[in-house]
Amino acid sequence: MRFLKSQSLNTKTRALKSHHSSDWIRCIVTTCRAVVLPRFGGPELLELRPNVEVPDLKPNEVLVRARAVSINPLDTRMRSGYGRSIFEPLLPIILGRDISGEVAAIGSNVRSLSVGQEVFGALHPTAVRGTYADYAVLSEDELTPKPASVTHVEASAIPFAALTAWRALKSTARITEGQRVLVVGGGGAVGYSAIQLAVAAGCHVVTTCGSQTVARLLAAGVEQAVDYTAEDTELAIKGTFDAVLDTIGVPETERIGINLLKRGGHYMTLQGEAASLTDRYGIAVGLPLATAILMKKQVQYRYSHGIEYWWTYMRADSEGLYEIRRLSEAGKLKIPVEKTFPISQVREAHDAKDKNLIIGKVVLDID
Ligand SMILES: NC(=O)c1ccc[n+]([C@@H]2O[C@H](COP(=O)([O-])OP(=O)(O)OC[C@H]3O[C@@H](n4cnc5c(N)ncnc54)[C@H](OP(=O)(O)O)[C@@H]3O)[C@@H](O)[C@H]2O)c1
Repeated sequence: MRFLKSQSLNTKTRALKSHHSSDWIRCIVTTCRAVVLPRFGGPELLELRPNVEVPDLKPNEVLVRARAVSINPLDTRMRSGYGRSIFEPLLPIILGRDISGEVAAIGSNVRSLSVGQEVFGALHPTAVRGTYADYAVLSEDELTPKPASVTHVEASAIPFAALTAWRALKSTARITEGQRVLVVGGGGAVGYSAIQLAVAAGCHVVTTCGSQTVARLLAAGVEQAVDYTAEDTELAIKGTFDAVLDTIGVPETERIGINLLKRGGHYMTLQGEAASLTDRYGIAVGLPLATAILMKKQVQYRYSHGIEYWWTYMRADSEGLYEIRRLSEAGKLKIPVEKTFPISQVREAHDAKDKNLIIGKVVLDID
């Protein structure tokens, strides 16, 4: 591990004066504040603890002093028990995937980032030690320099959602300039990211969203924004598509999305059943069952509609993160932040998301 700067009051460190510079202290953060989930349930279970252990860095890992972390639907779902087949034996866990902050230390093999640099990024969906903490550990390829034009709060809202959209559109459907893309649910963080990525790639984009979002999505460059609260989306959507990203993924949107694809097109839902089946039946039965269901659908739709059917998931992707940073820097990829809570009010923030009191991104500010 290399150098890190002086630490916050809430952090215990072992410190030695560096022989390189009197400003820098060689130290290892051993504990810090973190929001811990001891068991699955409601927001009241979230505990902001003062002295949670910070693991040692592996050679490819980076210690990030968090400034802002955003709340994703995965966080509230995990808190309620989604993914319990994986996470239950590992409790207590720390929630949170997204982060924006400063590099506090780097592992011995890290080359692209340096101490003190402002970065943002996201952890893999199955990471056990999340980002709701003063210090988080991410691998080098899960982070990228934060554009100076974007605040920590704004930056923390972007990576998990945008990487999910990237995975579907770029890695799975491999969208190219001139193609037609339908984003079902363009008003959410993943949907809005997908729209901005597809527009930047030169695609013709159509979306469905709520009435309050229509104007924002038209301004982002979609050719048609169909208000699902006021119109029959199936009748209103014009034309056929090379790719459909369905962020809602209920049987109705799946049927509509598949029927609107050209032959050879890709249907991608974010609501894959791997985790829910594994939770219900255990890993030994649930995982093969999920694979069998997915393969059956893939064969069925290839035969009946000539299309490719996918469950897509967020994955770390350094090429994707680089492009996400580039577009954020250029002002072409942003996710509006609806409300910010201090980390000490994490329970209130989760409660507000659970009850749908806040539509849109919520960010936890870590001072
Ligand atoms: N598979 C994965 O790896 C992965 C990764 C990230 C997220 N997800 C899942 O993807 C979903 C979206 O995530 P997110 O972060 O984008 O959530 P979000 O920011 O909370 O967005 C949800 C949005 O969905 C829209 N919506 C709801 N019902 C709709 C309908 N019938 N038609 C069109 N739009 C509708 C609403 O938009 P309006 O405001 O316009 O009404 C709402 O704002 C969540 O279920 C999440 O769990 C999966």
